[in-house]
Amino acid sequence: MPLDIIIGTQWGDEGKGRITDLMAAEADVVARYSGGDNAGHTVTVGDEVFKLHLIPSGVIHKSATCIIGNGTVVNPAVLIREMDALKARGVDVGPGRLKLDSKAHLITPAHIAMDIAKETQRGSGAIGTTQRGIGPAYTDKTSRVGLRAGLFADPEGLAAAVKAHITEKNLMLTKVYDAQPLEIEPVVAQFAQYAQRLRPHLVDGSVYLNEALDAGKSILAEGAQGTFLDLDHGTYPFVTSSSPTAGGALIGLGIGPKRVGRIVGITKAFTSRVGSGPFPCQLEGALASRLRGTGANPWDEFGTTTGRPRRVGWLDMVMVRHAARINSLTELAVTKLDILSGLEQLSVCVAYELNGKRIGYYPQDLEQLAQCKPVYETVDGWMEDVTSIRQMADLPENAQRYIRFIAEASGIPVTFISVGPGRDQVIYG
Ligand code: IMP
Repeated sequence: MPLDIIIGTQWGDEGKGRITDLMAAEADVVARYSGGDNAGHTVTVGDEVFKLHLIPSGVIHKSATCIIGNGTVVNPAVLIREMDALKARGVDVGPGRLKLDSKAHLITPAHIAMDIAKETQRGSGAIGTTQRGIGPAYTDKTSRVGLRAGLFADPEGLAAAVKAHITEKNLMLTKVYDAQPLEIEPVVAQFAQYAQRLRPHLVDGSVYLNEALDAGKSILAEGAQGTFLDLDHGTYPFVTSSSPTAGGALIGLGIGPKRVGRIVGITKAFTSRVGSGPFPCQLEGALASRLRGTGANPWDEFGTTTGRPRRVGWLDMVMVRHAARINSLTELAVTKLDILSGLEQLSVCVAYELNGKRIGYYPQDLEQLAQCKPVYETVDGWMEDVTSIRQMADLPENAQRYIRFIAEASGIPVTFISVGPGRDQVIYG
C-alpha cells in the first residue's frame, strides 16, 4: 500500500484536518511531517469539535496509529497538554498508538523567547509568526545545534544539552535583542519531566514507516501550513521555516518517492492568509467580512492557533496551478463550498496582469508580485444552502459549474467537495 500525501495549496487553513479525518478512516498510519504547533487542525465529529496543533488529526479514528515525524519541531509541553486533553475525552494516546520520531527537533522556551524577540525587532516588517518558536527551532536544526527528541532517552545528555542551549540563547536574548534571560534550572527540570513522559513514544520513524509499507499498510501524510508558506516555494520571507510541500513529506518522514500514491491538494473555495505578506486577491469591506464570518463558529476565518482574523479573498487559480506543479498533485479537495452560498456573483482569479502584460505564473519576486493585478473571471453564484447535499448532481447548477471551473483551470480532478464542517458533509467527485 502506498503513502498518500495531503498538501495545502494556499497559505494554510484550507481545511486539511477535515480531509485528513476522512482519509484517515482508510489509513493504518497517519503521520505529521513538517511544522509544529503553529498548525491548527479542526475536526468536527457529531457535536464534538477537536482542535489539534501537533498530534495528527487521524488520532480521532481508533484504527489509525499516529506518528510525529522527523521533519517536525515539537514543543513537548504542548504535546503533553494535547495528549492529556485527548485522553480526557477517551482517545487512546498511549505509546502503542502515538509515536514520536527520535530525530524530530524540540522547541524550548528559549526558542519561543527568540521568536518573540526577533518579531519585536522586525517592527513594521514583522512576519506575523505564530510566536511558537518555530523559526528559531528550525534555525538551530540547520545550524546543527538543535535538540532532538532522542535526547529523552539520555537523561544526562538531555540536562547538559538543555543547559548549554539556554545559556547560549540567554546571551543572544540579552546582548542582541535586549530581552530578558531565562532561568536555566527550571527549564532543565521541566525537560527531565517531559523525557519521562515521552520516552516510551520514541521510535526511528523512517524504519517504522517503511516497515509498515512493506507489511502492506497504508500511510497518510498529514500536511500542515500550505504551499505558499513553504520556505523555498512560498512568498519568502513571509513563510514558515519548513517545507509543507510533497517533497517535504518525503524528507520529513524518511520515505522515498517510489512509495507515493495519491497527492491530494486541499483548496479552499476562496483564499485566506494569516500573518503578513503579499496577497494579490485580498478583499476588504463587507464582502471580506462575509467570507470571514464573525468568529462565532469554530470554522470561521480566525486563526486556530492565534485567534487572529484571517485576511480573505477570491479563489486564485494562479496559486492553485503553482501548487499543482510543485507538488505533482493527483487530485484536489475543494473545501468550504457552503460558505459561498448566497453570493450572486463569484470572481475567480485566472491570471495576473504585470506591467500591462497578462501572466499565468506566480512571480517569485515579491516586488513584482506586489505589482500584479488579478485578472478575474466572473461566474454566477447560487442562493441555495448546500450543506445537506451529498451528490454532485444535486448541487445547484452554478455550484457544479464552479467546481468544473476549478478542475479545468487547474487541470486536476476534484475528488472531494466539503459542504460543511461535519464528517458526513462531503461530496465525493
Ligand atoms: P511561523 O510558522 O510561526 O514562523 O509563522 C510564519 C508564517 O506562517 C506566519 O505568517 C504565520 O501566520 C504563518 N503560519 C504558520 N502556521 C500556519 C498555519 O497553520 N496556518 C496558517 N498560517 C500559518
